[in-house]
Amino acid sequence: MTLAIELRHVSHAFDGGAVPVLDDVSAGVEPGQFVSLVGPSGCGKSTLMRILAGLLEPDAGTATVHGRSSVNRPGLVAYMPQKDLLFPWRRALANATLGAEIAGVPKDEAWARARALFPRFGLSGFERAWPAQLSGGMRQRLALLRTFLIPHDTVLLDEPFGALDAITRREMHRWLQEVWSDDRRTVLFVTHDVEEALILSDVVYVMTRRPGRIQARVDVPFDRPRGIELVADEKFVQLKARLLAELDEGMKG
Ligand SMILES: Nc1ncnc2c1ncn2[C@@H]1O[C@H](COP(=O)(O)OP(=O)(O)OP(=O)(O)O)[C@@H](O)[C@H]1O
Ligand SMILES: [Mg+2]
Repeated sequence: MTLAIELRHVSHAFDGGAVPVLDDVSAGVEPGQFVSLVGPSGCGKSTLMRILAGLLEPDAGTATVHGRSSVNRPGLVAYMPQKDLLFPWRRALANATLGAEIAGVPKDEAWARARALFPRFGLSGFERAWPAQLSGGMRQRLALLRTFLIPHDTVLLDEPFGALDAITRREMHRWLQEVWSDDRRTVLFVTHDVEEALILSDVVYVMTRRPGRIQARVDVPFDRPRGIELVADEKFVQLKARLLAELDEGMKG
């Protein structure tokens, strides 16, 4: 089977080799899987995402999307960068359609599809709002809507809920699971939050501190949909402890 996303022996350093950031990273995501990447700040998670999105050429190794090299080839994936990058001068609907339009979806079609998705993303009635009029959670949902509107079955989400409070995050977890189960796209998801990774993912990769290596790959066996009660489940608690231990181990360098 061809993996939807595959990284093989990826290494990278910035500033002419002075700042090694990634060290021989290999990882794979099967079609339709939800996979998370967890690691300490600065370990190279966003750098990996940018390599997969075709925006940064690694010093060594390969990155492929459905078997095609994504190196220097943007446009094979739908990518949501760590900052939401909403344009303050575009209304919500016009922000939502931007990625799809860039990907070549005709404007009328992009607008019609975005409009249809607004209720699904909890943004009904806010089509004409400016980004500044939206709450933090709404802005993130709008940025996610924009990403899911891009016609690719492989989606990269870089800490989409990083800036949200715990209550809003929980809501977003329930909601993202619903949206994801609608069409089961392949998702690679970056987070600092071990619990978030366990609730959402089929597989979790734990990275070491910089230069980032893969410390562990952990399968997450729980049935879906996964509700909040899961966090009290004994197996969940054990798996969380294991991931935290792997993170600690990876901090030793
Ligand atoms: N364009 C760049 N030029 C130089 N150094 C960079 C560049 N981009 C990232 N770095 C450095 O590479 C390292 C990894 O950065 P990266 O953004 O990939 O980390 P991260 O794991 O996403 O961190 P966080 O969890 O805080 O988002 C950091 O030390 C950062 O300062
Ligand atoms: Mg980052």
